[in-house]
Amino acid sequence: MNDNKIYNNNIRAAITSVGHYVPNKILSNSDLEKMVDTSDEWIRERTGISERRILENGATSDMAVKAVENVLKNRGIGPEEIDVIIVATVTPDMFFPPTATIVQGKVGAKKAWGFDLSAACSGFVYALVVGSQMIETGRYKKVIVVGADKMSAITDYTDRNLCVLFGDAAAAVLLEPSEDDKLGILDHILYANGSGASVLYMKGGGSLNPPTHETVDKKMHYIYQDGKSVFKVAVVGMADVSEEILKRNNLTGDDIDYFVPHQANLRIIDAAANRMGLDRSKVMINIEKYGNTTAATIPLCLSEWWQANKLKKGDTVVLASFGAGYTWGAILLTWAVDFKSK
Ligand code: ACO
Repeated sequence: MNDNKIYNNNIRAAITSVGHYVPNKILSNSDLEKMVDTSDEWIRERTGISERRILENGATSDMAVKAVENVLKNRGIGPEEIDVIIVATVTPDMFFPPTATIVQGKVGAKKAWGFDLSAACSGFVYALVVGSQMIETGRYKKVIVVGADKMSAITDYTDRNLCVLFGDAAAAVLLEPSEDDKLGILDHILYANGSGASVLYMKGGGSLNPPTHETVDKKMHYIYQDGKSVFKVAVVGMADVSEEILKRNNLTGDDIDYFVPHQANLRIIDAAANRMGLDRSKVMINIEKYGNTTAATIPLCLSEWWQANKLKKGDTVVLASFGAGYTWGAILLTWAVDFKSK
């Protein structure tokens, strides 16, 4: 069990602060009814979404900076203490430089280095594993992991299959060595399956189809999703990995205080929670307010529940994601610190 987590020095990584930022502009289901042939009833019944946030001016880094500043404020430290910044995103400000270094510059994290990680809706879970392992080696003391996406930048607002699903947000956590070996990140399971590349992708803009007038005319710079195919795999994938991480740690749903699933569709969330035998009260759900914000959904839940003092020190938590790639995974952790407003 857990053969992939503990280094010889037995340092465990723990999340010690969380922060988030959502843009003010709300795009409601009734707004969308005026833009495409859809209805509030269809969107809520099929997805669980009522509204989503849209960043009207600025880029992914602008939201990420605000989330990181919130993390630092909640921990009571300055940006110069950060060692590394990892930004999980599929909507970087530009192909290069990394959005992480733009964030580093904007927050004034003078000694930090950083990089972007692209794993779509599993981006935060993948990045949290990478960041926690940097802490576990003993080499780094303060690693910031951001999940940030401006999905409105790659969403076709004439396509009713897609435009109802996505929103913009950023959220971030601070990882530090845990003061107590029982608290922090205990285990993880990550998967990938390249067969997903044919059902969920953005075709244009990369080296395969560099931008031309033709790629723009063919709408190749927007998300493409075969929703039904993705749905079938996501329901099974997220439920399987959530169950697997419980089983290999000899836990059941009764041992879990909070399940924090990626927020793509309420029906996918319910399927995973049911498989774990969890009551809805133990499941963090905010999809109705924000839609699918890709890499931001999981830390956004953590931030809202922690800052509302609902997520407490000692809580046993499972994070789980499923997204493009396919990429999917789960993380088991014990929450390390209570929120104190500063
Ligand atoms: N309003 C009204 N009708 C709609 C809408 C809409 N917004 N969108 C689709 N429909 C119609 C379809 O055209 C279809 O009509 P038809 O039967 O006449 O063809 C009907 O509703 C049913 O469409 P489905 O696609 O079968 O609807 P489904 O119940 O599968 O829901 C959804 C679609 C919400 C996209 C679902 O398939 C889903 O959630 N898929 C998985 C999403 C996911 O997890 N993505 C991974 C993460 S994203 C990432 O990594 C970037």
